[in-house]
Amino acid sequence: MNFQDELKRRTDEIEEMFRSFLPAEEGFARTMAQAMNYSMLAGGKRLRPMLIQETYRLFGGTEKVAEPFMAGMEMIHTHSLIHDDLPALDNDDYRRGRLTTHKVYGEAMGVLSGVALLNYAYETMLQAFSLTEDQDRVICALKVMAEKTGIHGMLGGQSVDVENDGKPLEKEMLDYIYRNKTSALIEASMMTGAILAGADEQQVAVVEEAAGNIGLAFQIQDDILDVTSTDEELGKPVHSDEKNNKVTYVTLFGIKEASRQVELLSEKAIKLLKSLNKNNEFLYLLIEKLINRRK
Ligand code: IPE
Ligand code: IPE
Ligand code: MG
Ligand code: MG
Ligand code: MG
Repeated sequence: MNFQDELKRRTDEIEEMFRSFLPAEEGFARTMAQAMNYSMLAGGKRLRPMLIQETYRLFGGTEKVAEPFMAGMEMIHTHSLIHDDLPALDNDDYRRGRLTTHKVYGEAMGVLSGVALLNYAYETMLQAFSLTEDQDRVICALKVMAEKTGIHGMLGGQSVDVENDGKPLEKEMLDYIYRNKTSALIEASMMTGAILAGADEQQVAVVEEAAGNIGLAFQIQDDILDVTSTDEELGKPVHSDEKNNKVTYVTLFGIKEASRQVELLSEKAIKLLKSLNKNNEFLYLLIEKLINRRK
């Protein structure tokens, strides 16, 4: 298997699937629907839905029940990006190779379409109830999604992140920020994939730990790319962290040590997943390839 070709094929497939879940651009609120779809369809790695799908497959899942969760997760993630780029937060003008949503539709639409995507994610995920007999799994997956997105997850991390722009940070608080602003959605993705396929509590706990490490590695690599990449390659502005006077793994430990951490955390994650005695070569390879990703 050529990994890059296979990755592209699966990414395209995911995009094709979630198009059908997007809001129609019609009626008086069509500008907001357009703003929601603008950012959803701007491209992006689609990593989180892919992790739902691959973890679902790891545990032998074969139904369509994961699809509303894949679409919903990408909506939640996209909402986090639209808001992350707002002038009140990171104040960035480019995302996924295009002008940011607030640059095109204005700040009010940036705020509203972001929240609307977060809400639409749940409207979408609720559709999962009609795709399976295992209703309890859907309830359990929804609970994980809600918890990992809010104050005890992504939004908690984002709030501590912006609150500390320009302030010195200890590693302990930085880890709290990364484990929440970034790891939480990766954890939610892999955990829901596992839960929907019928994994037990112990297995879900292993998946959560692995995903936490993948998320931390992912954010550290994002910090590295913020100083080593280019706007063109990344599709978003480099040196955004410096502009906002952010403490990152790169400013605290340097690029070399930060890269070593990315590698160590990723290896740890793969080891944990392999300890489950299941098999999904594509998933292991995906995690490995994230270590040296350039965007
Ligand atoms: C960007 O996430 C935000 C971070 C957590 C670093 P991605 O790098 O997955 O962004 P897209 O979805 O590919 O645009
Ligand atoms: C953001 O971290 C994480 C979320 C959007 C939740 P960053 O602020 O580093 O993400 P980018 O670099 O703008 O994508
Ligand atoms: Mg940010
Ligand atoms: Mg940002
Ligand atoms: Mg960044």
